Amino acid sequence: MNGIESLLRNHLKGFTPYSTARDDFKGDRGIFLDANENALGSVITEKWNRYPDPLQNHLKQALGKIKAIDPECIFIGNGSDEPIDLLIRAFCEPGIDEVLIFPPTYGMYKVAAKINNVSVKEVSLTSDFQLDMIQIKSAINHRIKLIFICSPNNPTGNLIKLRDVLELARVFKGIIVIDEAYIDFTESNSWIEAIPKFPHLVVLQTLSKAWGLASLRLGIAFCNRHLTDILNMIKSPYNISGLTQNQVLIALKQEDRMRSFVGEIKELKRELQSALQQIPIILKIYPSDANFFLVKFKDAKNVFHHLIKNGVILRDRSGLVLCEDCLRITVGTSFENKQLIIALNNYLK
Ligand SMILES: Cc1ncc(COP(=O)(O)O)c(C=O)c1O
Repeated sequence: MNGIESLLRNHLKGFTPYSTARDDFKGDRGIFLDANENALGSVITEKWNRYPDPLQNHLKQALGKIKAIDPECIFIGNGSDEPIDLLIRAFCEPGIDEVLIFPPTYGMYKVAAKINNVSVKEVSLTSDFQLDMIQIKSAINHRIKLIFICSPNNPTGNLIKLRDVLELARVFKGIIVIDEAYIDFTESNSWIEAIPKFPHLVVLQTLSKAWGLASLRLGIAFCNRHLTDILNMIKSPYNISGLTQNQVLIALKQEDRMRSFVGEIKELKRELQSALQQIPIILKIYPSDANFFLVKFKDAKNVFHHLIKNGVILRDRSGLVLCEDCLRITVGTSFENKQLIIALNNYLK
């Protein structure tokens, strides 16, 4: 048994997963009478009558080239929310094990844990939104099987210090998940490079942000082969639709376009932040390495409702620890950002 398998929930050790109708024959051509599909076609012109590749092999080849990683170390999920849920289901015994998170952070870690009846231990970030290493080390115990680190962190927008993540990866023996949903907006290297050294590391990325493909629902977990085997074993058989697989294969050829979006969004962010600096009800604009940033207002709740009445929707984060009176602003188009500024100026009148 490898180190990762020893962390797996007991009832999943030696588990036989569902075998799909396409497991016994790998080619594209053949007379497929094995999956109870409609052989005559689809009710629409496009042909979607066949089940998609359950392991998304073409996509993994393409992603492997872009990310310089063995396709066997790639798990593809229906958004990165899918691997978040699967990791909890694989490693945390409901009612016994725990996950460790660092609020304020992305809400789905807690939600996914709660849905699975897994307790969540929380150690707040420090006032500069970094890991509180002393508190974290004293919080770690044998029941904690998974740690979620979000970098750049949502909703605060900052990267987590490399030195602290490294230290945690050395001291913690369970699974460490580094959520890099916003990594494409940063100058920082991905933690993917560290996977060969740390077999218990999972790096999450998504095509929902810089690639502009949120509606297609495609998230990725990069990790050691033993971990991708486990995720593949417990996922639902055809978790990524054929439509998504086709479209993403086309999209992955447009990496340059993604990079130019990122450049444009960064420029729009600078413009928006300098316009916001002129608005007196804004107390602080937090630095951010992502396509959003946190802003502290004089009276965030009232501002939030005023903006909604004016058709501008921000994310109210004022209820979160360390985020009192804060709203999270996603960088929009030049027009959208101007509408936000106009609506904020109207608040003062
Ligand atoms: C930090 C973080 N991780 C993961 C996700 C989920 O992304 P996906 O669309 O891939 O499910 C989000 C979405 O906002 C996010 O902010």
